[in-house]
Amino acid sequence: MDSILVRGGTELAGEIPIAGAKNACLTLMPATLLSDEPLTLTNAPRLSDIRTMTQLLASLGAEVTQLQDGQVLAMSSHDINNLTADYDIVRKMRASILVLGPLLARCGRAVVSLPGGCAIGARPVDLHLKGLEALGATLDLKDGYVHAEAKAGLKGAVFEFPLVSVGATENILMAAVLAKGTTVLKNAAREPEIVDLAQCLRRMGAQIEGEGTSEITIQGVDRLHGATHPVVPDRIELGTYMLAPAIAGGSVECLGGRMELVSSFAEKLAATGVEIEETAKGLKVTRKNGRVRSVDVETAPFPGFPTDLQAQMMALMCTADGVSVLEERIFENRFMHAPELMRMGASIDVSGGTATVTGVEKLKGAPVMATDLRASVSLILAGLAAEGETRVSRVYHLDRGYEHVVRKLSGVGASIERVHGE
Ligand code: UD1
Repeated sequence: MDSILVRGGTELAGEIPIAGAKNACLTLMPATLLSDEPLTLTNAPRLSDIRTMTQLLASLGAEVTQLQDGQVLAMSSHDINNLTADYDIVRKMRASILVLGPLLARCGRAVVSLPGGCAIGARPVDLHLKGLEALGATLDLKDGYVHAEAKAGLKGAVFEFPLVSVGATENILMAAVLAKGTTVLKNAAREPEIVDLAQCLRRMGAQIEGEGTSEITIQGVDRLHGATHPVVPDRIELGTYMLAPAIAGGSVECLGGRMELVSSFAEKLAATGVEIEETAKGLKVTRKNGRVRSVDVETAPFPGFPTDLQAQMMALMCTADGVSVLEERIFENRFMHAPELMRMGASIDVSGGTATVTGVEKLKGAPVMATDLRASVSLILAGLAAEGETRVSRVYHLDRGYEHVVRKLSGVGASIERVHGE
């Protein structure tokens, strides 16, 4: 298995291009199932999760062609010939559940494996199922699969999510665009990925209003047509690379970065004492000298501080001046990076959903293990600030969500390399 070697202590300088958003792309790809005409996505990220979704769509009969080195995905769902999303693919990636709404809306029937447990908590899909039931689907859970049917087609309804869910909002939104009549989604997620999905669906002929607010209104249409849509920049990759100079020192300009995608995160980062500047090309982060200050963080649905940046922010807090309290409010069990950071000399006390980090002057390089996608990149960030060598193993987690991480960080001067097969 590959690992990544980081030698800390080098200040960073230069530019990092930000890719299209993994999480947006993973919901835009299943949208192809809603139409028999082609959907083309530009600015797609090159990641193993995208390959998994490609595999899943292909298993249903869709064609997905990668163009321009994978940055363009040309998709066609003209010939859907299988309505079952198999466990073997779904278990690899939870976002696979996002084919359920579109298949049901277009074909009136779908059988989708329940995604397995996940390292960052139980992560049920009950809200996806409740929302589809509200639109008139009948659901049956058998042998680990959801069997969904809407013989007479889906019907618009008013549905209020009992708690904010990004994936459930996406699934129900995609189902509702082909339902008969009006659907109103209350307490909907407001993430930029939802806004991106709504924009893409509108390009395909859907009638949607209110995306980006907690109430989305969808007027069902009979069919959708083809479209071309650029994937929104990845706000989590952006936040991750904004943290790199904050941790290692120096200055990095994140190309394509936009403040409105990361405003609450940027506010916290600025409060630690680093400079953030909006430039013509993106966002530039500079840490001149001295330690950053500790800040407290509480994760929340957008526009709050993203749970997907909690691990990376913790890496910064490990060497900050003072004590930081990090509260994880979205997922239970999302502090698996803490014991790994402690192997590098960090002082962290975890109690339930709260981690208290007392900053130390220096971290020390150590062999550490990635436990999930965001945890793995937090260990790389910590390695940038550590004395000596940090070896991060199990980097397949990283390949799911960060394209060319070694190339991007070494491009700004970090000493980092991928070691094959160890
Ligand atoms: C998406 C993101 C993930 C991010 C998360 C929260 C993708 C592919 N993944 O995940 O990176 O960390 O949003 O911003 O876009 N819940 C239920 N029942 C459900 C669905 C969710 O109880 O049916 C709970 C979850 O366990 C969690 C909370 O709701 O505690 C939020 O989860 P959700 O927003 O659905 O996350 P995902 O869409 O899975």
